[in-house]
Amino acid sequence: MKIGIDAIAFSTSRYFLSLLTLATHRHVDYEKYCTGIGQIKMAVFHDREDIVTLAIDAAEKAMQFIPNKQEIDMLIFATESSFDLSKSAGIYVHHFLGLRQDCRVFDMKQACYSATAALQLAKVYIAANPDAKVLIIGSDIVKYSLKSTGEATQGGAAVAMIISQNPRILELESYSGVHTDDVMDFYRPVKKNEAIFDGTLSAYCYLKSLDICLHRYIDNSALSLKDIDYTCFHTPFCKIARKANRQFFQDYQLEDSLIYNSTIGNSCSASLYISLISLLDNASENLSSKRIGFYSYGSGSVAEYFSGIVNSQYEKMITADSNKNMLSSRHEISFEEYENFSNDTLDKQILYQNTGSVSLKSIENHKRLYAR
Ligand code: CAA
Repeated sequence: MKIGIDAIAFSTSRYFLSLLTLATHRHVDYEKYCTGIGQIKMAVFHDREDIVTLAIDAAEKAMQFIPNKQEIDMLIFATESSFDLSKSAGIYVHHFLGLRQDCRVFDMKQACYSATAALQLAKVYIAANPDAKVLIIGSDIVKYSLKSTGEATQGGAAVAMIISQNPRILELESYSGVHTDDVMDFYRPVKKNEAIFDGTLSAYCYLKSLDICLHRYIDNSALSLKDIDYTCFHTPFCKIARKANRQFFQDYQLEDSLIYNSTIGNSCSASLYISLISLLDNASENLSSKRIGFYSYGSGSVAEYFSGIVNSQYEKMITADSNKNMLSSRHEISFEEYENFSNDTLDKQILYQNTGSVSLKSIENHKRLYAR
């Protein structure tokens, strides 16, 4: 049975900060950000936006591709930015999408790896229940302390994927290479809004785990690197994907997969799959039948290299124009507004630009109230 990604869409904030603005105010050479780190803009979030509002927006776009939303009988919400240790963020999404009530809904967590864990789980679930459809959402907002070395790599977005048999975008292959290691390269203790990280160690672990995963993938699949046409990477910042590509794949084409992430910043669980959307939307050749490798890395750490084959119908399933329009119509904020966005009050000086999608209205007695 062919199982894989039947529909995919993403959403991000309506606001961004140019890294040129950040560089000017932090007295950093802009070349360091745009060439050294590989980022040019970062998504910045209004308090009316959160992982749930992003997720609903992305999911509604993906659902346009299926005739009957009641076919979805499992919703997996992958995130490391959850605001609740008990209730699943996916339940808010389930409510706003109007999914059936006998649909299983739960969150998954393992840093940026969790959407990949969800994908592998969905694959097994569909193998056992061939008519099932699983909605996977990866949604994260990444915040580092102001003036920290990570500041220029903040960002966030949500990706929504519908997983089913006979997928019209990408058929997942059965082999992969996995590596788990107990490291403290990046973590966010409960009650801390910002992650704690060791940039050098995390980059080292990312590349070391890729080396191990690739070897395991090759051993398990009996394929060679020459059999892989493209690799999409988890992209905490574009330079690390470029380094990985150069180190392991030499002259493979990469840039088309980095276009969106370079202007969004790190979106953790969503980032790898936004690389895929960017490649599907921007590749200069037709990708039908191409084998795409995926490198998923979640600090802490779990990493996986796996692959899939692009379906011949994929061009009917992409929304390149609307994705590009979403990114180009974002509102650029000033440095003063950025600092205002970064304090945790619900009283922003910037008016929220309501475009009809769901937003966070208030938090009353710890209850989050959303409305369209
Ligand atoms: N012109 C051009 N390039 C310049 C430059 C200039 N003026 N100044 C510096 N550079 C280059 C440096 O040479 C360096 O390049 P190399 O990596 O090729 O050596 C690059 O810019 C970055 O410079 P630094 O190493 O000095 O940067 P930094 O100390 O400010 O930290 C960072 C950069 C490590 C990415 C930091 O932003 C960070 O720690 N980010 C958060 C952690 C992270 O994203 N880790 C990724 C792996 S973990 C993971 O993947 C999970 C996850 O999502 C978090």
